[in-house]
Amino acid sequence: MAAKRRIVVTSALPYANGDIHLGHLVEYIQSDFWTRFQKMRGNECVYVCADDTHGTPVMIRARREGVAPETLIERTRSEHLRDFSGFQVEFDNYYTTNSPENRELSERIFKAMEKTGAITVSKAPQLYCEHCGMFLPDRFVKGDCPRCGAEGQYGDSCDKCGSTYAAEELGRPKCTTCGGEPVLRDAEHLYFELEPEHAYLKDWISAHTPPDVANKLLEWFDEPLRGWCISRNAPYFGFEIPGHPGKFFYVWVDAPIGYIASLSNWCAKTGRDIAEWWPSGEGAEKAGAEIYHFIGKDIIRFHCLFWPGMLKAAMFKGPDKVFVHGFLTVNGEKMSKSKGTFINAKTYLEHLPADALRYYYAAKLGGTVDDMDLNLADFVQRVNSDLVGKITNIASRSSQMLHKRLDGMLGVLDGEGRELVSRMENASETVAAHYENRRFNQAVVEICRMADEANAFFDRREPWKSVKTDPESARAALTAALNAFRLIAIYLKPVLPAYADKAMRLFGETQWTWESLRGRAESKKLGEYSYLAVRIDPAQVDAMVSAAAAKPAETGEVSHESRASKNKAVVKSAPAAVSALKPEIAFDDFAKIDLRIGVVESCEIVPKSSKLLKFVIDAGALGKRTIFSGIRQAFPEPEKLVGREVLFVANLAPRKMSVGTSEGMIVFAGEPGVSGGMLSPDAPAGAGTEAT
Ligand code: MSP
Ligand code: ZN
Repeated sequence: MAAKRRIVVTSALPYANGDIHLGHLVEYIQSDFWTRFQKMRGNECVYVCADDTHGTPVMIRARREGVAPETLIERTRSEHLRDFSGFQVEFDNYYTTNSPENRELSERIFKAMEKTGAITVSKAPQLYCEHCGMFLPDRFVKGDCPRCGAEGQYGDSCDKCGSTYAAEELGRPKCTTCGGEPVLRDAEHLYFELEPEHAYLKDWISAHTPPDVANKLLEWFDEPLRGWCISRNAPYFGFEIPGHPGKFFYVWVDAPIGYIASLSNWCAKTGRDIAEWWPSGEGAEKAGAEIYHFIGKDIIRFHCLFWPGMLKAAMFKGPDKVFVHGFLTVNGEKMSKSKGTFINAKTYLEHLPADALRYYYAAKLGGTVDDMDLNLADFVQRVNSDLVGKITNIASRSSQMLHKRLDGMLGVLDGEGRELVSRMENASETVAAHYENRRFNQAVVEICRMADEANAFFDRREPWKSVKTDPESARAALTAALNAFRLIAIYLKPVLPAYADKAMRLFGETQWTWESLRGRAESKKLGEYSYLAVRIDPAQVDAMVSAAAAKPAETGEVSHESRASKNKAVVKSAPAAVSALKPEIAFDDFAKIDLRIGVVESCEIVPKSSKLLKFVIDAGALGKRTIFSGIRQAFPEPEKLVGREVLFVANLAPRKMSVGTSEGMIVFAGEPGVSGGMLSPDAPAGAGTEAT
């Protein structure tokens, strides 16, 4: 056997301000396949990850929820871990970037970068809100897109035309916190200069990234490389930059360092020496473990340009390879909340088994940068016909027959059986090469081919007939079919670990490695058969899609301003007593109401009306809604509502009013100006994905 390799595997650190969804899982599941394969091969492989906790979105969300960022990130981390373990994604260490190790490493790496002269300081005008007393991060400012003119766009990119720009370019900018108009003020920032390493990075990219990724990146090398702004001004949830009070590391500085911090935390916990895993200093490049990053194509720039630049400057070992995958589409389109194809890990697991998705992803992933489609009909089809109908069927029919008719005793392989099983064993290096090169789809093709062969063998030998006439020949046939299944289950173990564990128990074994492919199960009692995989009913998928589409409306009582009573004698502790109840309605009546979450983009007093407020609600995928609402008395300063998330009835027929058309109804419980208030969700609907 080849010498043991020492390998570090990472997946990109998920942001701590959002849920894990099926798109993320494309990455974590394939990294898990690969890690498990390496471990089965006897290599010393460690899979580390962490939550990416710093930056503006976490800060905004924590503020909105009225909790400390530390509380928010702790909660998210446990939710993320719950989702990952539900999908059998097994990290050796899952840490947080808000850790002492990460602070220490970030400071150390920064100081080393500073020492090489790669850090420069310069001033540039930036939007500043005098009312809030702060420089505005991109997500704290909205205005007109400088390219297409669309209103209400964030300071980094336009939702309408997709262009990216600097916040200072926005037309009519507004502070999203106070609604005020920001001014330009000189802000001092730190930059990491990449140009001094132009030649090094050019070579590095060619050697360490997939060719199609490298070609794209190398286009930038025709010109001098631009410096990268690595500082953010307070307030910012992150690490303060040593020697630069009031300045914080941009989240993308300490996020990748979080890989080393998580590994270092693992080393401390398991009594290892980080220098033997991720070394720094003289000769680091040739020492330590092999290091591999799995990432999505949206974050190439950070991992294949800035990150190797930072590591080089600080004299840390760089990754051996960056493996880049594409994006998940569902039914051929971008995941969409309104279509119910933006599916969270948790929602999936409430309706379907993890194994099915793991199997399907394996069947589709070929280690390329191409996007991957989850076609839901094809998903059901493949799982049912291949995983259940083809693969699992071998075990279920053979073991049941053996138990029922032949006391559950495995016999000895006969000539034909031995041939079948050794042909499968002989494929072991082919399958291993597919796994090694992340051609999981090819591994699955190979495995399905074996299953076809095993089924054909079973049908040819007709053990259900011979069991009556020549039971020992039937026993030999079933023994061969079950041994074939055994090898298939071992081959599948990186993809379906829980499934393989159950299969292993059937054969009374305690550990399966790649070496186990040499073993045979003969002349022993077969364990009880327990269900390995069950067919998926398309109705389960439909239910999941409906649940995903309905997600924003899960919360809440329905009530609105028109129900407010005339009764002013309200006691604060008894808001329910405001008015007499309207007649009871049936569940079906209630179910017709489609509640959604939107963000108040603007809110103004309607002239000449004592009651009405004019809202423009940004409802994400549903677009913008203008809603007139008679709740002015509750909000003496309506402009303060800008940026707040509210529930609204999204399927109410538009209503023409003298002041305009109202396209929905804001949910308000109680009586405006007396009691109650608008209902807000306890978590933002469209958790931002881009960190600022
Ligand atoms: N926090 C950064 C990564 C920092 S790494 C030092 C980040 N987080 S993320 O939560 O937005 O994404 C985590 C990983 O999931 C990324 O590699 C990203 O490409 C991947 N995916 C997120 N959505 C995806 C799809 N829809 N499809 C496939 N992968 C996707 O980026
Ligand atoms: Zn402000």
